[in-house]
Amino acid sequence: MTGIRLTAPAPGWAIDADVVVVGSGVAGLTTALRCAAAGLDTVVVTKARLDDGSTRWAQGGIAAALGEGDTPEQHLDDTLVAGAGLCDEAAVRTLVTEGPDAVRRLISTGAHFDTTDSGDIALTREGGHHRRRIAHAGGDATGAEISRALVGAVREAALHTIENALVLDLLTDAEGRTAGVSLHVMGEGQHDGVGAVRAPSVVLATGGMGQVFSATTNPPVSTGDGVALALRAGAEVSDLEFVQFHPTVLFLGADSEGQQPLVSEAVRGEGAHLVDGDGVRFMLGQHELAELAPRDIVAKAITRRMLDRGAEHMYLDARHFGAAMWEQRFPTILAACRSHGIDPVTEPIPVAPAAHYASGGVRTDLRGRTTVPGLYACGEVACTGVHGANRLASNSLLEGLVFAERIAADIAEARPSRTEPANGPGAWDAPVPLPAPETRAAIQRAMTRGAGVLRSADSLAAAAEELEALHRDAAADAEGASGAKAVVPGVDAWEVANLLLVSRVLVAAARDREETRGCHWREDRPDRDDAHGRRHLVVRIAPDRTPVVHRTETAAFPPVRPSD
Ligand code: SIN
Repeated sequence: MTGIRLTAPAPGWAIDADVVVVGSGVAGLTTALRCAAAGLDTVVVTKARLDDGSTRWAQGGIAAALGEGDTPEQHLDDTLVAGAGLCDEAAVRTLVTEGPDAVRRLISTGAHFDTTDSGDIALTREGGHHRRRIAHAGGDATGAEISRALVGAVREAALHTIENALVLDLLTDAEGRTAGVSLHVMGEGQHDGVGAVRAPSVVLATGGMGQVFSATTNPPVSTGDGVALALRAGAEVSDLEFVQFHPTVLFLGADSEGQQPLVSEAVRGEGAHLVDGDGVRFMLGQHELAELAPRDIVAKAITRRMLDRGAEHMYLDARHFGAAMWEQRFPTILAACRSHGIDPVTEPIPVAPAAHYASGGVRTDLRGRTTVPGLYACGEVACTGVHGANRLASNSLLEGLVFAERIAADIAEARPSRTEPANGPGAWDAPVPLPAPETRAAIQRAMTRGAGVLRSADSLAAAAEELEALHRDAAADAEGASGAKAVVPGVDAWEVANLLLVSRVLVAAARDREETRGCHWREDRPDRDDAHGRRHLVVRIAPDRTPVVHRTETAAFPPVRPSD
């Protein structure tokens, strides 16, 4: 246990539960529904509204071996290839074998997927898949449909939900076991300000951390809160260096910041071509799957072409789809492009890579257990070993579903008793000094320049230096040494503290991985180094919050053991 906490007021209210689920995407809501169905008193805490997380933005779909002739084994093969030698095979096997039934149960929960004329689930292709395997809904609105169905089920089951609530820290008992979370609720009903949900099982399903970069497909809520909380609680995180950059994000200008519109890989799955400014299809001859090569390969090829041509973007050409297909199959993307003055029916779409998905996260075993007893992680916040160095397209919704069910089963079986938090009200020592909210842009600039799609020892060293300076400034401000006033605790400051912590850990891992593998692209180390690199980098933070990196022996995860 590290005993590290964010600077925050002591909780002024508390409620009790058997399980608290933090996050309301596919992972969080599936866990909550299954826990409640098992008779566990379940509370869902979410940062904005129930449907405001990343799930709602997922376009392409959910991958599973559902089609005729497809098998979990083929899905496994494609996942392992995309993962560039770093997937944990046991985790992938779990995903692909349990996936099809998990999707069927999602359908029973009320999600409607697109179907063919004969009534079968319609399947499309995306990068890295050798066959049509991606189920989709509303054309390109899969996440929105899944979110609608799960939120509906949660409301119907009358689960206790707390919206507009930023989770702060893990509460632990005298033995270091999970005892709940502290959180800040923005002002409604019975819960207001900083409070606590006391529960012996906490499931982090807080999504990703795309907001560490200036431009990302992630919504504003994706500030790495779950990974930061887990690090402060002493948990191990892994594979954080593997940030997936989606190859085709609508280009809105080199300085465009915040959430950017995604142009799904499914557009390429249905036959769109990547071309440069001269109309040349540059993916031909680069990979047997051309535009449908795994995502890291396409993102690198686009970036290389941009660098060679001195261009700010490339183009995705799908004019040959025609208006009817665009309207029926990709209505969301069509509307987003048109709202920015681009008509994909008559012109190629300008695209460039942007930060999209954290392949790493809080390290778990196959039951979603982290190294802190009673703390689980599920979905993008977790690192189950499924994604390795590069997530296969549309495996993430599936991972959320499959591992949510496993976590709920584990909690229902263990049924731990509630214990008293030892770091609860009155024991808020060693608080983390809060950076000024304005620091957010400086973090994002440092990460974008130094740890973006193309990295080097020098760029990462520069990013590390800038981040460490921000870290030192926050401490100096807190002590009044810099002459600045200490930052007042609040949502902006807590989020920035989380962004800074996860950025520092990500950069530490990226510096340590001296090779190019999956979505970690080092221009100074262009080759994959299987002799040293087929290992996971596992990071914890020391009591002074310095990242401590160690390597696993093999690409398989060692068993999760409680932290000491
Ligand atoms: C997409 O639709 O291209 C995104 C799918 C994913 O990130 O898995």
